[in-house]
Amino acid sequence: MEHPGKVLLSGIAAAGMAAIARSEYERRHFVTNRQIVSSPKIRRERNLVFLSDLHENVYPSGEPGQMDRLSQEIRGISPDAVLIGGDMIIMHPGRPCRSRRTLELLANLAGLCPVYYADGNHEDRLDQGIAPDGCFRDPFLREIARLGAVYLRDRSVNLFPDVRLSACTIPEQLYRCRFRLPVMEADYLEQRLGQAARDRYQILLMHSPQFFRNAAGWGADLTLSGHFHGGTIRIPGLGGLMTPQMQFFRPECAGRFTRDGKTMIVSRGLGTHSVNIRLNNRPELLWITLKPGREEEAARTGDGTARLRGARTR
Ligand SMILES: [Fe+2]
Repeated sequence: MEHPGKVLLSGIAAAGMAAIARSEYERRHFVTNRQIVSSPKIRRERNLVFLSDLHENVYPSGEPGQMDRLSQEIRGISPDAVLIGGDMIIMHPGRPCRSRRTLELLANLAGLCPVYYADGNHEDRLDQGIAPDGCFRDPFLREIARLGAVYLRDRSVNLFPDVRLSACTIPEQLYRCRFRLPVMEADYLEQRLGQAARDRYQILLMHSPQFFRNAAGWGADLTLSGHFHGGTIRIPGLGGLMTPQMQFFRPECAGRFTRDGKTMIVSRGLGTHSVNIRLNNRPELLWITLKPGREEEAARTGDGTARLRGARTR
C-alpha cells in the first residue's frame, strides 16, 4: 500500500496539472457575452463591440489565410462601432513594447465600422519603452490612425446623434495603489472632460472600474471598463480572486453594476500578462446593444454577465 503522504502529493500534483491545462484552454478560448442597455435618451437600436485588455493575445483560426477568430467574431456581429477600453498592447517601463497583434486586429477591422481607441495603463506608458518597434506614442498613434481608428484621450466625440462617447485617463498613482482602494478627486472627470452630456446618452471609457462612483456622479449613463482581467481566478459565490493591485475579492472584477440609474459594465478582458492564469474566467468579448426604452433599475449585480438578462455566450 502506498504511503498516505505520497498519495496526497500525487493528488496535489495531478490537481495542479489539471488546473494548468484548464487555464491554458481558457486563455485560448474567448466567449462573447451580450449586454442590453436601454434609456429614453437612445433614439434607435445600435450594436457596439467593447474590447479590453487583449494584451497582444491572438486567437488563431487554424485555417491558413483566414483572419483570427476574434476578428471573425467581431465582423460577424457587424457592429455600428467598436470601442476599445485600453491595454491592448503590453508595455512595461524600460522594456520593449509589444503592439504588433493589436495593429493586426485593427487592420482586420478597418472599414468595418468606426473604431475608437482609449488608453489603459499600458498605453499610458507608451513613452517609457526602450526599443523603437513602432510602439512609442507618436508612431503608435500614427499607425492606429492609418488603420482608421480614432484615438480618444481625455476628450469626447458624438458617437451617434443621440450618443456621446468620452474617454478619460486615470492618474498613474491611482493604478499603483496596492492593498488599498484608490480615491479619485470628486471633480477629476469634469476637470478632464468638462460636463457630461445631458441631452445625449453618455458613454464613458475608463479603464479601471474602481471609480464608478465618480463616473456615475459625473453623469456617465454607461461606463465601460476592464483592467482586472476578471480577477484571474473566479470562485463561485465570491467572484474574482485578485486584482493587479493585490486587492482580493473586489466585486468590480467583472460584470454589470448599477448606481443611481447609471450602468457600468466591466469586461473580463481578452488576454493576460505577467500573471498568465485564467480559471473559471474565460476571456470575454462584449457585445453591447443600446436600445430605446426605460432606464435600469437601481440594483447592483456583480457577477457573470452571461447570466444576466439578454446575455448570450458562445
Ligand atoms: Fe490594465
